[in-house]
Amino acid sequence: MKIISVVGARPNFMKIAPLIKVISKYNECEEEKIEHMLVHTGQHYDDRMSKAFFKALDIPDADINLGIGSGSHAEQVGKTMIAFEKVLIEEKPQWVIVLGDVNATLACSVAAKKLHIRVCHIEAGLRSFDDRMPEEINRLVTDRLSDLLLTPDELSIENLRNEGVTRSKIEFVGNIMIDTLESNRVKASNLIINEIIEDNFIQEQKSNDLNNFNFSTSHFALMTMHRPSNVDKKEILEPIIQFLLDEVSLDMPIIWPIHPRTKNKLEQFNLWDKVILNDKLILLNPLGYHEMLKLNMESKIMLTDSGGLQEECTVLGTPCLTLRWNTERPITLRKNGGASVLVGNNISRIREEYKKTLKLNRTPDRPKLWDGKTAKRILEAILKSNK
Ligand code: UD1
Repeated sequence: MKIISVVGARPNFMKIAPLIKVISKYNECEEEKIEHMLVHTGQHYDDRMSKAFFKALDIPDADINLGIGSGSHAEQVGKTMIAFEKVLIEEKPQWVIVLGDVNATLACSVAAKKLHIRVCHIEAGLRSFDDRMPEEINRLVTDRLSDLLLTPDELSIENLRNEGVTRSKIEFVGNIMIDTLESNRVKASNLIINEIIEDNFIQEQKSNDLNNFNFSTSHFALMTMHRPSNVDKKEILEPIIQFLLDEVSLDMPIIWPIHPRTKNKLEQFNLWDKVILNDKLILLNPLGYHEMLKLNMESKIMLTDSGGLQEECTVLGTPCLTLRWNTERPITLRKNGGASVLVGNNISRIREEYKKTLKLNRTPDRPKLWDGKTAKRILEAILKSNK
């Protein structure tokens, strides 16, 4: 059997790592081998957004890099489809595996399906029910086309059934991100926070004297933000920045590994100088997997609009404010046993929940099948439907 797996953007890399490992293990033990190829679309291309993850998570170099780079959605999807179709015609795989909800997921599932190649979607069935999110469109189209839909939770099965997907195409396998978290927990916990900060500090932040901080006390907030709905408009981004500077930073230092999109927008809106001059806001370059995991393990509170971090906060128990009005991952919400609460981008709502959240203790949760063994179940599901 020949399989091509596709990765494109940062959140895909931690999801593919455990699958590649179980395929290698399978090939060591079984006579009939799986021929596996890894294709990187090149949507994320900075070393810190891509190469660093391959290295840290021991992912072999991609067999093919399509070199798509940045661009509008149509540009990214269009260029990926054109380039990936050529790969498919040349390589003729039986299966294409796509992950998550990035532009590569959509582009490659459409290209494969049109060539009658079977598509397996890992992380199927998540729905925010907000079709203004580019990722929701990617999820809807990919799930509509996929032959094998592997869900991280049972709510996702329900979503797919409500859309009319045949039950036999769906398999509940758990969350593959947690495989990566579990196998890297020890390595991450051995890192030293001050070293993470020194190594990743944005040099422009010269006024900041790191010696003033003692991060071993876990008294810091961790922040990430990159969604277009939060960062693309000045009237939304600026009040959030102001809230961080005027309120959160008075309680504790804020560590913020900054996404390239967000940095570009802060510069464009003339907010960059304001953030780099505040010495309680510690801006870092995008972090590696273990570094981010260590900070998440130790932080007092997380503020984020990332889907993956909401999941990791659930398992680690980090009290989390999700800077979104909805989530495709309701299992991560406190009302469902998780660690996060939706606060959107309205400052009074953020403030109210921030105050409540500061009083919470770390309470880890483990949703069903988020047990570190999802990659194995994924491979079994593919082998079963290949018969
Ligand atoms: C993408 C995913 C999103 C995911 C996020 C994680 C889609 C639709 N969105 O969003 O689901 O949560 O990745 O990071 O696929 N850039 C760089 N270097 C890079 C990559 C991007 O400088 O390595 C800059 C470019 O200027 C680009 C901007 O960041 O225009 C945004 O990148 P893009 O690939 O469009 O999407 P993300 O916002 O990263």
